[in-house]
Amino acid sequence: MLLDLARRLLFSRDLLFSNEGRLVRSVHYDHNEVIALTKPGYYYPGVPKSISKNDIHPESLQSPGNSRQTECTTAPESRFDCGRDRLLSQEECEERGCCYSPLPRSAGPPWCFYPALYPGYTMGPLTPSTRGQIATLTRATPSYLPKDISTLSLEVIEESSSCFHIVVKDPSSQRMNTTVAPLLFADQYLQLSTTLASSLVSGLGEHYTPLVLDLNWTSLTLWNRDMAPHADANLYGSHPFYMVQEEDGFAHGAFLLNSNAIKVMLQPTPALTWVSTGGILDLYIFLGPDPQSVIRQYLQVIGYPMMPPYWSLGFHLCRWGYATSNATRMVAQRMHSANFPMDVQWNDLDYADKRRVFTFDPMRFGDLPEMVQEFHKKGMKYILILDPGISSTSPPGTYPPFEDGVKRDVFLKNATGHILIGKVWPGLTAFPDFTNPEARQWWEDCIRNFYSKVPVDGLWIDMNEPSSFVQGSVQGCPDIELEKPPYTPRVVGGQLNSGTICMSAQQNLSSHYNLHNLYGLTEAYATHSALMKIQGRRPFVLSRSSFPGIGRFSAVWTGDVRSDWEQLRFSIPAVLQFSLFGVPLVGADICGFEGNTTEELCVRWMQLGAFYPLMRNHNDKPNAPQEPYVFGQKAQAAMRSALNLRYSLLPFLYTLFHHAHTSADTVARPLLMEFPTDPNCLTLDQQFLWGSSLLISPVLEQGAVELSMYLPAGTWYHLHNGQQFHSNGQYFQLPAPLETINVHVRAGHIIPQQEPALTTAASRGNPFFLTVALSTSGRAWGDLFWDDGDGLRTFETRNYCYVNFTAGQSQLVSDPLNLSGALASLLLGGLRVFGVSSPPLYVVANGEKVSDFTYQADLKVLTVTSLGLPMSKTFTVQWFP
Ligand code: NOJ
Repeated sequence: MLLDLARRLLFSRDLLFSNEGRLVRSVHYDHNEVIALTKPGYYYPGVPKSISKNDIHPESLQSPGNSRQTECTTAPESRFDCGRDRLLSQEECEERGCCYSPLPRSAGPPWCFYPALYPGYTMGPLTPSTRGQIATLTRATPSYLPKDISTLSLEVIEESSSCFHIVVKDPSSQRMNTTVAPLLFADQYLQLSTTLASSLVSGLGEHYTPLVLDLNWTSLTLWNRDMAPHADANLYGSHPFYMVQEEDGFAHGAFLLNSNAIKVMLQPTPALTWVSTGGILDLYIFLGPDPQSVIRQYLQVIGYPMMPPYWSLGFHLCRWGYATSNATRMVAQRMHSANFPMDVQWNDLDYADKRRVFTFDPMRFGDLPEMVQEFHKKGMKYILILDPGISSTSPPGTYPPFEDGVKRDVFLKNATGHILIGKVWPGLTAFPDFTNPEARQWWEDCIRNFYSKVPVDGLWIDMNEPSSFVQGSVQGCPDIELEKPPYTPRVVGGQLNSGTICMSAQQNLSSHYNLHNLYGLTEAYATHSALMKIQGRRPFVLSRSSFPGIGRFSAVWTGDVRSDWEQLRFSIPAVLQFSLFGVPLVGADICGFEGNTTEELCVRWMQLGAFYPLMRNHNDKPNAPQEPYVFGQKAQAAMRSALNLRYSLLPFLYTLFHHAHTSADTVARPLLMEFPTDPNCLTLDQQFLWGSSLLISPVLEQGAVELSMYLPAGTWYHLHNGQQFHSNGQYFQLPAPLETINVHVRAGHIIPQQEPALTTAASRGNPFFLTVALSTSGRAWGDLFWDDGDGLRTFETRNYCYVNFTAGQSQLVSDPLNLSGALASLLLGGLRVFGVSSPPLYVVANGEKVSDFTYQADLKVLTVTSLGLPMSKTFTVQWFP
């Protein structure tokens, strides 16, 4: 099978390599065929069900000139661009052996495209390698590319029955490839085209797009950039992974493990072309067969997400502009006085002395350590910002982070070997090289020193694309190919070094050209490790820049979103994309960061934000305040109820994170993952799920007091009151006044909840209650993961509780499967059972009659209160008609 796969891979299109810089590699393969070959009995429509070696015709490898007439008749939507590197005249196009056929419109299909058969490499015999099978590829005639490499190695590795790994590289060049922290570096170019099984493609972040991407001749650049989210821009993170939904609920995915600047072209064929400015072709194909399996297979390569501390699922409040410690105290105090649940108070750069990290302003934040202690006494947590740019202009002897860093040689160098100086908030700055172990140790030491004075609970790592306010460096960048490669994908600012540091900057592992997209990941890794050692607890890190694997170390937020309704709407696909990328702990700045919010927008955003896995309200300096307490009473009440609802659901949310951490499940989940065979769900991104059982349908339009909401086929209950909806897979028109967020529970599920409180420190001691949503046959199931909330490796060391809840035949039974002390003193206070068809005459808990219960006949809801059953022991609650 591997032989067929390899041959098909190579011969179905073409493969071009050259040995230096510029346009070096071009690989085309037909993804459909790979899948058809790798998965017995699993074929795409239109793909031959059996392909043998005899299907490979040597003639197909000959010059395309022979039969150009017949080969150039490709339909426009199926053309693959032969001139991606530059615009070609007819003559230049034909010199490449390609077809030239102008079309009326200038945008869209290419005019110069590959003929159906195009000369490529021939493959030698496959021989066993340490990881799979390896073969040599040679090409007899050079391609049109300068300095192409005539001999390559191809390795095909069957990582598992559902994951194939294909590596094509120049065997004479040293490359590094690790999947632990996925670092790849090279100074080359590669191109890879694939047809797709359907037009339903998602992934390829970070961009301001719907969940399902537009394939109408669009392109997406993956190049980390400090850029407020807007259409057609490369944003803070890069995730060269996509998932394709096929017919009948099937799905597959692909991951190009490559850290260079990548452009992905999407065309309606449907097809996709990767173009990278370097690295090796290191491609993983995930066979699914369903969307959730694709994500799990992807996360098996990049790593499962970390388990967040419990408190980090509470509400976070931040803004740029809390100018003093007293102003910061006041914010937390006002939140508390107005009874808004809140766990974490944040400070932006305001705290720092002259905006230099690892200092605090002696005048305005002189009592920062005391302030943090006070928060802790109230059961709250505290987080502040750290930028990677280290001020380089402080008077000698006054700023150890820079001076120690120089001594320990931790900063990135420019091409001439001097420390590269850029400009960020504190003025001129040097940038730590987190690929250097000494820099990681220095970073840990800086954090440790600071922590000994200011015991922060987590760190917010911003500006880590890395961002710089001067292009490249204060001295500019050398005029060399790394700075201006022959092919630069379309990036904001036009050049790779726009808004960041020079590509020729030297890092321990390679040039910044190869490592740029990894800067935030390496900083997140260093910060997570440092906090783990210093605090001895589960770390919390929030990063702006991201790359595959970051979910193991950090949460991510979606950057500087504007306070408007469009950005509110687009925040849902943004959050859901990070679910696909293995970063479940993600959220957008609630109420918007840039510009003034309005009361209505802020209410709706707090309601939606109550269902972001990470819930933080954050605001920019010049804007009107947007803390919940600044609004009118009605708005405040709506926000308070959204916060209380979230806090009541935290046991459920925490359990979902446990499943993300241990099984690569998603937390905020697109409907397409749960209902892949429902055509209405395949593109939905204005509603989403928590796990498989809670459907969130927020209001996203100004002035709306009603909502058109889709319910997949089955029975659903309104979480608020248990109202039943029987859906055939249809839209429902629901009331949605300002104080409401519509959340529905799927029949058959049990949601573990807890009475809310003003902090999670308090709510974690409150009684639990269960929302039991019976199926039409009267059954339901749910679970609860519980531990100390911030211990290290609690799952791995079995220091946790895990309880199953099962309902059926008019009773609910708990089954504690693993018990540490964590649940010891906690009680089940009550339950709500939705869908109880006839009024119970009496209710019995652990064999004893219960007096506190009510039944609402119109809604068919049984509510039992005042139970007081120990959560750590098996319990049974029965209701008898
Ligand atoms: C940019 C970040 O995206 C924003 O959240 C922060 O407030 C500012 N930097 C200032 O630190």
